Amino acid sequence: GAAVAGAAPLAVSAAAAPTAAPEVTILFGSQTGNSQGLTKKLAKRLEEQGCQVTTSSMKDFKPNNLKKVQNLLIVVSTHGEGEPPDNAVTFYEFLHSKRAPQLEDLRFSVLALGDTSYEFFCQTGKDFDKRLEDLGGKRLVSRADCDVDFAETAGEWMNQIVSALSHTTAAAPTSASGAALAAAAGTESEYSRSNPFQAEVLENLNLNGRGSDRETRHIEISLEGSNLQYEPGDSLGVYPENHPRLVDKLIETMGWNAEELVAVNKSGEQRPLREALLRHYEITVLTKPLLEQAAKLTSSKKLQELLEPGREEEVKTYIRERDLLDLVQEFALKGVPAAEFVTLLRKLPARLYSISSSPKATPDEVHITVRSVRYEAHGRERYGVCSVHLAERTESGAKLPIFIQHNPNFKLPTSGDAPIIMIGPGTGVAPFRAFLAEREETGVEGKSWLFFGDQHFSTDFLYQTEWQRWLKDGVLSRLDVAFSRDTDKKVYVQHRMMEKSRELYQWLQEGAYVYICGDEKKMAHDVHAAFAAILEQEGGMSAAEAAEYLGRMQQDNRYQRDVY
Ligand code: 2AM
Repeated sequence: GAAVAGAAPLAVSAAAAPTAAPEVTILFGSQTGNSQGLTKKLAKRLEEQGCQVTTSSMKDFKPNNLKKVQNLLIVVSTHGEGEPPDNAVTFYEFLHSKRAPQLEDLRFSVLALGDTSYEFFCQTGKDFDKRLEDLGGKRLVSRADCDVDFAETAGEWMNQIVSALSHTTAAAPTSASGAALAAAAGTESEYSRSNPFQAEVLENLNLNGRGSDRETRHIEISLEGSNLQYEPGDSLGVYPENHPRLVDKLIETMGWNAEELVAVNKSGEQRPLREALLRHYEITVLTKPLLEQAAKLTSSKKLQELLEPGREEEVKTYIRERDLLDLVQEFALKGVPAAEFVTLLRKLPARLYSISSSPKATPDEVHITVRSVRYEAHGRERYGVCSVHLAERTESGAKLPIFIQHNPNFKLPTSGDAPIIMIGPGTGVAPFRAFLAEREETGVEGKSWLFFGDQHFSTDFLYQTEWQRWLKDGVLSRLDVAFSRDTDKKVYVQHRMMEKSRELYQWLQEGAYVYICGDEKKMAHDVHAAFAAILEQEGGMSAAEAAEYLGRMQQDNRYQRDVY
C-alpha cells in the first residue's frame, strides 16, 4: 500500500462544516516537498478552525476552477535562477497568460520559499503575489518570504492566516476533523525537520576505488525506535556540523572567547560560542543582507564601498565564492562582539539527500550516497559542510540528527508492470538503488533500464556488483554506462541514450516512466534535449510536437526529476 501522492490531488475537506465555514484552497508548488509539508500542516490547522480546505499540487489543479475559489493560499518555492519548480510551471504560465480570468472576488495570500544567497530570492512567490493582485484579488494577509531556515517565518504567516480566516467564522472545530487528526497523529513519527531523530550510523564506506578523484560515501543509518517511514524516491534530511578548523580559525581571527554564551535562537536559548558556530549557525554561505548588516556593525569603509550602487556584480561574485572567514579577514571586522555578530547569521540548514535504500529490503534502515565536496579557492581548501562532515567525522556508532523529507514528485509507477527508464550519473544513481531494491522485494514484472555514468570504470562504478546481480536476476533489464574520462572524447549518459534512441522511443511508446536524478543545470538539461531529439528522430515529430509530448508525460507523472 504505497501512498503514492502526486497522481491525484489530496483533497482534504472537513465533514459537515457549519454554514459560515470559509472555503480555502491551498495550492503548493515544490521541488523537494517542503511546500507540500507546509501545506499539510496549514490544512490541518484550518480544518481545526472549521474551514473547508482543499489542497492540491499546482500541477493537478484545474485552472477552470479558479473562478470558484474564495480564498486561495499559495505555498511555492523558487528554483534555480528564479524559476518555478517543475510541478508549478503549467499553473504559473496559465496565470501569467491572457487566459487567466479576472479574480475580483478572490482573497489570497502567498507563502514564498527561497534562499537569500540567490539573487532572485523568492521570485516565483513574488510573481504569483503580484499577478493575483493584478487580476483583482485582495490580500488576506501579506506575502511572507522565507529563507532556507523557513520554519519560523512560515509559522508566523500561518498564524496570521488562521486568525484572518477565523474572524470570518465562529465555527468550533468539527468532531470529524478532530478524530481524523488524532488518527493521523497515531501513525506519524514524532520526529521531523524541527525535531530531528538522533540516529545511529551503522556503516560508512567509500565507494570509490583507490586512485579515484572522487570520494563517495555509502552511509547506512538506523531508524530503530524512530517510527520514521519512507518510500523510495524520498529524501533524508541531515543536520551537519561546520568544520572545527573553520570555526576555530574564525574565533581566533575575531579574538572571541570560545566559551562565551551566545543565543542560538530567538527564544533566547544560549550555548557556548564554539558549539553555536559548529552546530547552530551557517558560516560558509554569505548573503547580501548579511553583508549589509555587517557593514552597519563596523566602520569598515572597504565593505561600505563594496555595497555602493554600481558594484552589484562584484557583490554577487563575492557572495558566491567566499565564506564568513573571508569576510571577517578581508574587511577586518575584528572587534564586533560575538553576541552581536551571531544575530546576523542564518541557522545552519539541514541538507537533503536522495535515499538509496528500500525499507522493504532493509527495514529500520536508511541509506544515503554522498559525494564529498572539496576544492581550493582563494588560497584555502574549502569543504562542503555536510558531505565532509559525513566523510571525515561520522564513523559508525556516531549519532546524526535526521528526518525524512517525503518527495511525492519522485515515485515509482503505481502500476508495477509499467517500464521505467532511470538516468542517474554520479550520485544521481542513489534513488535508483532504492527503486530496484523495492522492485526486487515486491517482485514486480515491469522492465527497467538504467543509464549510469561517472569518470572511470575501474574506480567510480558506484554499486557495480549490485547492478550486475539485479541484471542477472532480471530486476534490472538493461544497463548502459558512460565513463567520461576513460576515452579521449567525453562520453556522457545522453550520448548512450542517443545510441539507443530507437529502443528508448519504443519504451516511451509503451508507456515507460522516465526518472532523472542528479545535476540540474548541465546533465538534466542535456538529457531533456536528448529525449526531445529521440522523439524527433524516431517519432518523426517537430520540435514543438516533441516538447508537447514531454510536457504531457510530465503532466501524467511519467517524467519525474530529482535534480539539484
Ligand atoms: P566529467 O566530470 O568527466 O565531465 C558524474 O559526475 C558524471 O557526469 C561524470 O562522468 C561527469 O563527467 C558527467 N557529466 C558532467 N557533465 C555532464 C553533462 N552535461 N551531461 C551528462 N553528464 C555529465
